[in-house]
Amino acid sequence: MPNNAYINSKYLDFKDAKIHIEDRGLQFADSVYEVIAVLNNNLIDIDFHFKRLRFSLKEIDIKYKFNKKFLVKIFYNLLKKNKTLNGIIYLQITRGIQYREHKYEKNLVPTLIIYTRNKKFNLPGKNFYGVNAITHEDLRWKRRDIKTVNLLPNIIAANKAKKMNAYEAILIHNGKITEGTSSNIWIIKKNNLITHPANSDILKGVTRTSLLKIIKKTSLKLIEKSFSYKQLLEADEVFLTSSGSLITPIIKIDKKKINNGKIGNITLKLASMYSKSCMNG
Ligand code: PDD
Repeated sequence: MPNNAYINSKYLDFKDAKIHIEDRGLQFADSVYEVIAVLNNNLIDIDFHFKRLRFSLKEIDIKYKFNKKFLVKIFYNLLKKNKTLNGIIYLQITRGIQYREHKYEKNLVPTLIIYTRNKKFNLPGKNFYGVNAITHEDLRWKRRDIKTVNLLPNIIAANKAKKMNAYEAILIHNGKITEGTSSNIWIIKKNNLITHPANSDILKGVTRTSLLKIIKKTSLKLIEKSFSYKQLLEADEVFLTSSGSLITPIIKIDKKKINNGKIGNITLKLASMYSKSCMNG
């Protein structure tokens, strides 16, 4: 299986793709990232990813000016080299290399890391599946809207889920559901579709943004408001969205089945509409 990465202007085989031990991304998680879905060689929601990347860089003051066309060219080169038709592109920008010191120097040269991975997505069709989730306390910092690699609280909760044979951990902060460890969470009650507002308590998902546009074409009533654990368990349907899992139904949370453990009709419809919009570019 070929595996090439792009690091600071060079295409390298994985075994040669290395970063400096004093890269601030490694030592301080002083770094931002994006995970971009690729379906049939299409870059999904790419403009939303670039917009969020720009926002994340600005919020933590990494002065990296990127050119969309230049990055897209690297993405396609890597997809071709790695024979990735369906999968993800991982992009990370660190503040750069510096003698270890919390305070950073002004003119560091950011490190750019890009690679691809093949992935089979959960798409509507005969193999479309629902997943189990657990709930977990949200242990993260207060700027969850910035997509940094500062992910240890997410890792702890995700691994608790793994231990319990669940796919995702849904995070709870002050009695309210925020999001998943690497996804946004949505509930359906009657004709209402409810999800946490995109403030600094959650990451404003690119898939979430894209789905908001699709919802406008339906008769569903969108409510961007935080909801409780009780509302979560009593929902008619629950699903998650992310670039890694697109729209994936959640059919069991903790020990409670949602929609009798079956994929709900509205979730299926939204997932179908979303995957169609991806296929049409
Ligand atoms: N995670 N919330 C969190 C905390 C996330 O890490 C992610 C994505 C999302 C969904 O965002 P998007 O729709 O833009 O992928 C929400 C990526 C996939 C990851 O860390 O692998």
